[in-house]
Amino acid sequence: MSGAGKSTIAHALVERIQSLGLRATILDGDALRTGLNSDLGFSEAERTENLRRVAHVAALFCKEGFIAVAATISPEVAHRENARRIVGRESFLEVFVDTPLYVCEERDPKGLYRRARRGEIPQFTGIGSPYEAPTHPDLVLQTEHAPVNYCVDKIIDHLTLNACVISELKKKEQLPI
Ligand code: ADX
Repeated sequence: MSGAGKSTIAHALVERIQSLGLRATILDGDALRTGLNSDLGFSEAERTENLRRVAHVAALFCKEGFIAVAATISPEVAHRENARRIVGRESFLEVFVDTPLYVCEERDPKGLYRRARRGEIPQFTGIGSPYEAPTHPDLVLQTEHAPVNYCVDKIIDHLTLNACVISELKKKEQLPI
């Protein structure tokens, strides 16, 4: 959800991956909505289109040997499944940034929850619009208890264990080993 910590973790993750000598890029929902996806709002259909585009951009980066870190809400199970299909199952890692709504709401970094509670943002995820938690994420991060660096460590561990990713990177001569 908004305020869960997706962008913060994603930025730190991209820095860490780059420091390992690999190529990585961030695809941040908020940032993409100022450009590529600026024509889209937050209805069900527009979110589906937003996430379809993000997944295709991720797939293009992936083909070029980048690790694309997408920080998006993607509120429906179907959104994540569609992204997994577009990117390719062997290259896709679903990370659930599992932060309870009350914590996101306490953080409220952009003041959006306050506005949503006042009825000013009718389709706000978690308030006026549903969020379907992942049923089988590859990784769950509980940011209420875990600092950013710990979350990044967990993702890196997972990537390192993912033999497919490593062999792909080796093929593209991206791994320094
Ligand atoms: S998604 O649902 O289509 O995946 P996306 O990740 O691109 O959403 O954008 C979410 C960001 O848009 C939030 O972090 C927040 O800053 C902003 N936002 C504005 N309106 C809404 C809304 N109605 N619901 C959720 N986020 C919103």
